[in-house]
Amino acid sequence: MKLFCIGCGPGDPDLLTVRAADLIKSADMIFAPTAREGKSSIALSIVEKYIGNFAKTVSLVFPMVKNRESLRDYWKRNADEIASAVKTGKKVIYLTVGDPALYSTWIYIQRELKRTHKDIEIEIVPGVTSMFAIAAKAGISLAEGDETVAIVPACYDLEKVKRTASACDTVIFLKDGRYFDRVIDMLGEAGFPDSATVAIAQNVSDEGELLEMKKISELRGKKGPTEKYFSIMVAKKNARD
Ligand SMILES: C[S@@+](CC[C@H](N)C(=O)[O-])C[C@H]1O[C@@H](n2cnc3c(N)ncnc32)[C@H](O)[C@@H]1O
Repeated sequence: MKLFCIGCGPGDPDLLTVRAADLIKSADMIFAPTAREGKSSIALSIVEKYIGNFAKTVSLVFPMVKNRESLRDYWKRNADEIASAVKTGKKVIYLTVGDPALYSTWIYIQRELKRTHKDIEIEIVPGVTSMFAIAAKAGISLAEGDETVAIVPACYDLEKVKRTASACDTVIFLKDGRYFDRVIDMLGEAGFPDSATVAIAQNVSDEGELLEMKKISELRGKKGPTEKYFSIMVAKKNARD
C-alpha cells in the first residue's frame, strides 16, 4: 500500500519531472487540494494533460484560514479519505503546487497518515518551486558567495519578517501578493538600500504571468502590481548587476 505525493511545479505542465508525469499518467485516483467547496484545484489544472481517461479526480478542501485548531478536522478527514482509497489497492496520488516541502497542504496529510495509517508507505516526488521559477524567469540568482536567503510568508507577523530581513541578503516573499506593498517600507527599515532590487511576479509560468524588476526606491509608497494570492517577490540587498 503506497501513496505518492507529487510536486506539480509552478504552473507550466512542461515543468513537471518525468517521474511526476509518469505517475500521474498511470494513476487510478488523483487527490488535489482546493481552498473551498466547488473551487477548481490549481494543482489538478496544471497536470490535466497527463491524467488518464479512467482516472478519478477528487478535490479536497483545505480552507485558507490561519487558525490551526479549526483546520485539524479537515486534515484528518482528508487524510482518512486518501487512506481509504490507498487501502483498496488502487494507485493513488496526491498533488501539490510547486514542491510538497514548501508551504504545502501535504505536510498535514503526511502527519495524519504517519499517526493513524502507519501501514501506508509514502513516496514524495519533488517539484520545481515558485522561487526557482521566478529566478529563472527574471534571470537572477537567489544567492551567491556567502549570501544568505530567507523565505517568508508576507501575510503574517511583520515584525518577525523585519527581524529576518535584517539578517539576510535575499528575502523571498510568498503567499498573498496583496500584502507585498506593506513589506517594501519595512525592507528599508531592515537595511535594504534604495538600490536593492526587487523581482515581483504573479502567476509565474502560467496564464496571465506578470513579472517586473524594480529598485526598492521605485516601489516605495506606490501600489504594487500584484493582486493575487499566487504572487512572489524576491528582494536582493546587494544589487550587483
Ligand atoms: C501554499 S504556497 C505553495 C508553495 C509551493 N509549494 C511552492 O513550492 O512554490 C502558495 C504560494 O506559492 C507561491 N506560488 C506558487 N506558485 C506560484 C506561481 N506560479 N506564481 C507566483 N507565485 C506562486 C505564491 O506565493 C503562493 O501564494
